[in-house]
Amino acid sequence: MFVRYATMEDVDAFVRVVAVVADEAVWIATEPPVDVDAFSARVRTMLADGEALFVLDIAGRIVGTLGLHATHAAGVVSLGMSILEDYRGRGGGRALLIAAIEHARGVGHHKIELEVWPGNERAIGLYDAFGFEVEGVRRDHYRRRDGTLRSSRIMALLL
Ligand SMILES: CC(C)(COP(=O)(O)OP(=O)(O)OC[C@H]1O[C@@H](n2cnc3c(N)ncnc32)[C@H](O)[C@@H]1OP(=O)(O)O)[C@@H](O)C(=O)NCCC(=O)NCCS
Repeated sequence: MFVRYATMEDVDAFVRVVAVVADEAVWIATEPPVDVDAFSARVRTMLADGEALFVLDIAGRIVGTLGLHATHAAGVVSLGMSILEDYRGRGGGRALLIAAIEHARGVGHHKIELEVWPGNERAIGLYDAFGFEVEGVRRDHYRRRDGTLRSSRIMALLL
């Protein structure tokens, strides 16, 4: 298992992982079905803009992704991550997060923020383990395609 920076050659695999995890309709904010062409174009733009994207490779297959995205606050990046179901719980999330934190520190960012569904115990456990702290709750913030409203927890790590 190893983590490396994503390149333009990884865009299809990167998008596939996020689309499959979105299809579960449980864990991430991205709602299915993912518009693969539009999302691929966004990922290419992220790479062209110098955003740090990482892929998790297990046995030659890309099974996980992590992105650090620019925010309106200089030095603060927003984190999103996804691992295919069969490859969770094997330390891949930890490996992706180590790479992301090392990168963020290396380029001089001062903070990584993220949003997580309050019931996502595994993700929250991972972020807790790395020292991310709760900064607040966005109550009934996100209107889902089925019309319901969802709250998210804001967590962040000061670097
Ligand atoms: C969340 C996710 C990235 C974590 O990655 P993972 O590979 O499953 O997690 P790891 O095996 O690396 O576990 C790392 C740490 O997370 C925590 N953790 C893992 N499973 C946990 C669980 N069921 N409950 C609480 N904490 C848990 C532990 O601290 C663990 O460290 P340890 O194994 O040394 O105890 C992954 O499960 C995933 O992609 N889930 C679906 C998508 C998602 O939720 N993305 C995040 C949206 S905010």
